[in-house]
Amino acid sequence: MQDHSRYDPVWRAAEPYMRVRKNDVHLPLAFHWAQALLDAHPEADRDICSLAIMLHDIGWYSIDMERIIDEGFRSENFLTSDVRYLHEAEGVRLAREVLGTTGWAEDTIEAVCEIIDGHDTRAEPRHLNDRIVRDADKLWRYSVIGLSIASDWFGGSLKQYAEQVERDLPKFETETGRQLAETELARSRAALMLHVL
Ligand SMILES: [Fe+2]
Ligand SMILES: [Fe+2]
Repeated sequence: MQDHSRYDPVWRAAEPYMRVRKNDVHLPLAFHWAQALLDAHPEADRDICSLAIMLHDIGWYSIDMERIIDEGFRSENFLTSDVRYLHEAEGVRLAREVLGTTGWAEDTIEAVCEIIDGHDTRAEPRHLNDRIVRDADKLWRYSVIGLSIASDWFGGSLKQYAEQVERDLPKFETETGRQLAETELARSRAALMLHVL
């Protein structure tokens, strides 16, 4: 069992930026998924991946919630919308502040910010740490909570969103991530009675 208490000061420093767009739910859940992926991939860097997933979306803090939903989720090219680039740039700025005040080394800060910058808009991941963060970011959508929250953002039903995330299974970067997602989706569908509803 890993001890994650060294990240507690980072959570506390990031908390003021987390009460936007359900990041106070998304970021801790994605962090736990990242730990499962890191257990299966010991060759990845645990600090860099953990810090990147914890802070990757705090840049949404700087953007109005109406814009986040209209442009960042419901527009035609939502994944390359202006607000998507903006939340990445703001995420880098705020992550530098949070990691600087909590005493992390400059090379760790650089590596974390390199992942945060472009985490949604970069076509291909650059390395294993990047791939782990991408999979952890996706995995929460397969949980009951993630399906519930994200289906609201995209404006469809739970059943439609469950079908969407099922179609997205081949997009996982790691086989571990894909398997975890598949298992979690089956559990969530049963819990939400999606075979009936
Ligand atoms: Fe993001
Ligand atoms: Fe995210």
